[in-house]
Amino acid sequence: MKVVISIGGSIIASPVNPEYIKNFSKLLSKLHGEGYKLMVVVGGGRLAREYIEAAKKLGASDDYCDEIGIAATRMNAMLLISALGSEAKNMQVTGGTELGQTTDAVAAKLAGKHRARLLIIATNVAGVYDADPNKNKTAKKFDSLTSEQLLKIVGRKYHPGLAAVVDPIAAEVIHRSKIKTVVVDGRKLENIENAIKGKRHGGTVIE
Ligand SMILES: Nc1ncnc2c1ncn2[C@@H]1O[C@H](COP(=O)(O)OP(=O)(O)OP(=O)(O)O)[C@@H](O)[C@H]1O
Ligand SMILES: [Mg+2]
Repeated sequence: MKVVISIGGSIIASPVNPEYIKNFSKLLSKLHGEGYKLMVVVGGGRLAREYIEAAKKLGASDDYCDEIGIAATRMNAMLLISALGSEAKNMQVTGGTELGQTTDAVAAKLAGKHRARLLIIATNVAGVYDADPNKNKTAKKFDSLTSEQLLKIVGRKYHPGLAAVVDPIAAEVIHRSKIKTVVVDGRKLENIENAIKGKRHGGTVIE
């Protein structure tokens, strides 16, 4: 079973969390041992946002800010690769690849291209809410959504360093390629494993 995981920079590297990265790498190795074909896209987190903010102040263009953001995602991916050691050859681990989109979009496109059974978006909130739960205390979490509903929630605007639970381009790709997607709180690794194995994960299922 092919699974693409978009792992939020917010959880592995804001600030850099070697203990989490080690435990995440152990989970990936275990899943590989159980027969899962894994593709992992690592987000930029605090490093990306700090550098993008500074670059903006220094007059960088949006494209150049994206290049800086992508470099940050690669640094984070390199930490995960370090933790995986020789296991890294058993899966695909990457950072961002394209200007103008977040690592969620890269992950969604990978999932579409390789016809993955599942896309996991592991982030620092419990799932997709009807508003940003960090800004709105009464925001309500969805247990499930259609991809059309997701499109309405995430809107259409992208900018470098965008903080959105699923970015607009990723949502569009999820909608177009009909990829089953689960947004989970990846701070608890159990949630990621449960989402992959079809067990209770507390997140939002999009199909
Ligand atoms: N409708 C929403 N539902 C849930 N979270 C939302 C929503 N809108 C905005 N957010 C925000 O999105 C944040 C998660 O996205 P963010 O881009 O910060 O993290 P990430 O994608 O895990 O990490 P990174 O982008 O660094 O790889 C949440 O902490 C929350 O504040
Ligand atoms: Mg993000």
